[in-house]
Amino acid sequence: MSDAEKGKNLAGHVCPWWLGYFLITPLRRILQSPEKILGSYVKPGMTVLEVGPGMGYFSLWMADAVGADGKVVCVDVQEKMIRALKRRAAKAGVDATIDARVCGAADLGVGDLDGQVDFCLVFAVAHEIDDVDAMFEQLRRTLKPNATCLVAEPKGHVGKKDFDNTIGWLAGAGFRVVEHPSVARSHAALLQRE
Ligand SMILES: C[S@@+](CC[C@H](N)C(=O)[O-])C[C@H]1O[C@@H](n2cnc3c(N)ncnc32)[C@H](O)[C@@H]1O
Repeated sequence: MSDAEKGKNLAGHVCPWWLGYFLITPLRRILQSPEKILGSYVKPGMTVLEVGPGMGYFSLWMADAVGADGKVVCVDVQEKMIRALKRRAAKAGVDATIDARVCGAADLGVGDLDGQVDFCLVFAVAHEIDDVDAMFEQLRRTLKPNATCLVAEPKGHVGKKDFDNTIGWLAGAGFRVVEHPSVARSHAALLQRE
């Protein structure tokens, strides 16, 4: 089996930090409204894990949605993304709900969350990760049984065949595919921890 078939990513590049500013533009809401995409998954009191949040386009909305009794843990490999996310969270008054961390390229640094997470978001990130199966194994350990994870990839960067290969691999590695939600300009799958 080739690396691509096993869920390993060979692209090997990370979104430049300055692109983070384009990803938080309010115009993005026209096509990718956080409420429409995440409204049926993120509920008050939940613990949410977001891998690769960038500057927090989805994180701030999720912090509002989980409320004061919930928590959103955001892990990103780029310190500049995390710094901007923290600034934005403070400005929006949700910094007490968001725990933003710089992680390693191969280590999400979420060992303290084992079995605690209700929902996980991996949006436009998987194609930047070298070893997707290793990353999802760390992520899987954080999820409660039957908790879900939304994975979305940009159609411009990732072909359907590559996305299907990645999801197919994850489906045999402790997850089941429960839904293919419609997300503009994206391939998307909702995975559930077995
Ligand atoms: C294209 S941006 C998407 C940002 C955000 N999810 C969004 O949709 O606005 C990809 C993000 O993933 C982060 N990233 C790349 N590799 C990562 C890794 N191994 N672990 C965590 N984050 C990573 C990048 O630093 C960047 O912030």
